[in-house]
Amino acid sequence: MEIVHVSAECYPVAKAGGLGDVVGALPKYQNDLGHVAKVVMPMYRTRFLVQHDWDVVHKGYTHMGSWWFNYTVIKERTNKLGFDLYLVDIYGLLDREKIYGYSDDPERFLGFQIAVVDWIAAWSHQPDVIHVHDYHAGLIPFMLKYCHKYRFLQNIPTVLTIHNAQYQGWMGWDKSHLLPEWDSWGWGMLEWQNSINPLASAIKCAWKVTTVSWSYLDELRTAANGLEALFEYEKGKCVGILNGIDTAVWNPATDTYIENHYGPSDAADGKLKSKQILCERFDLDIDKPLIVFIGRLVGEKGADLLPQVIVDSFTHIGRTMNFLILGSGFPEVESQLDNMKGISNRDYSVYIGYNESLSHLMYAGADFILMPSRVEPCGLNQMYAMRYGTVPMVRNTGGLRDTVVDYGDPDGYGIRFNHAAVGDITQGIWRAVQLYGQESTFQRIRQTMMELDFSWETSVQHYLDLYQQLK
Ligand code: ADP
Ligand code: GLC
Repeated sequence: MEIVHVSAECYPVAKAGGLGDVVGALPKYQNDLGHVAKVVMPMYRTRFLVQHDWDVVHKGYTHMGSWWFNYTVIKERTNKLGFDLYLVDIYGLLDREKIYGYSDDPERFLGFQIAVVDWIAAWSHQPDVIHVHDYHAGLIPFMLKYCHKYRFLQNIPTVLTIHNAQYQGWMGWDKSHLLPEWDSWGWGMLEWQNSINPLASAIKCAWKVTTVSWSYLDELRTAANGLEALFEYEKGKCVGILNGIDTAVWNPATDTYIENHYGPSDAADGKLKSKQILCERFDLDIDKPLIVFIGRLVGEKGADLLPQVIVDSFTHIGRTMNFLILGSGFPEVESQLDNMKGISNRDYSVYIGYNESLSHLMYAGADFILMPSRVEPCGLNQMYAMRYGTVPMVRNTGGLRDTVVDYGDPDGYGIRFNHAAVGDITQGIWRAVQLYGQESTFQRIRQTMMELDFSWETSVQHYLDLYQQLK
């Protein structure tokens, strides 16, 4: 099968979170099974772009409303990522450093999607599936069905994967003229609650919809940032497929970001060496358990609760643990966490920013990883952590619920708590400190986790089965 993935992110080209990791891995595993999976994404001005060689494969000319533009599609020459990687350039729109965060993001991603569809329309054949990821590519299924110029592509099956339904890409109707001329009978397929809603449109127009865990799909029927009724209505075409992890990139025995490699049998020693590096760099006490948080400092991740959790843990449990935080996001949370460095007694530190290499060192050197998420469609951190022998402490939600079993349950290995609330999280930290003190149980849990299989192999097959149903 020929599968075209359309996404705003793809590791290692451009990544802001798990979407990038998934789109950088899934196509590779699909190709390994003999399919032809391709990725098309915007040509941001990233380091990856300048460090690689590219061929121009298409030049096109189209329009977004009254703005006519040239676009260029380039392809990475060596197939380095294990799949064909295409970047779309639109001068003035996509030629920026960052992925998100510009005031004209709606136009940027709309222009990108128009160019992608326009390019595919110029192919001499049609792919077997167009697989769109999140709202940034969400208007493509609509365009294939309702835009006059591209309607001849309407028989190409489309799949939407929802990595995060919180972000939907709402636009006012004043932007409707920016879409390629469309059949006005189709307006309802763009609309949700009086706006153009690209994610809702994709849920309505895609042939199949997947979410990145089973529990998240269940939760969306009651909590979907306004789309609950739509999920209920469209449940027949929705299916949960748990993400995998790229075990070639995330492997403590070979990870190029860490110096001290290890496997399940020498994890205690290997991890201690990475912990030592972290403790020296961030002035932490190596004798205490190291609890880390890695992620976007936003409400979904429960990041705003961290300051109080840390203070309460120090006050009520005692100064018996270290906290190290890596993240960026809401400025208030960033500055609160940064200011707290003042209370450290060699037991708290924070790195504000995005740092891929530090994240790997933290997965390797930490004893526990805390994920107090309010919403977690899948979550990759806990799976990476487990592969690195780091015990996940997670809120019982979404993909966290589907991947972490509490160590108090039969065959369990993690710490789960029910509410994204300071008391529940602090209680989880108390359990972590207790567990750390039980040397043999802690080592056994570590061993169990490292041998769990979260690889893509199973999930890839589920996607392929889904595509087959669309033929
Ligand atoms: P989300 O996509 O919602 O942010 P995931 O758990 O799926 O959450 O994936 C997060 C990914 O982004 C992981 O690979 C994690 O290591 C990485 N990550 C998040 N924040 C940072 C950061 N500040 N520095 C480095 N990596 C980060
Ligand atoms: C999103 C979700 C996260 C998921 C990731 C990859 O960003 O927030 O839970 O793991 O996408 O699917």
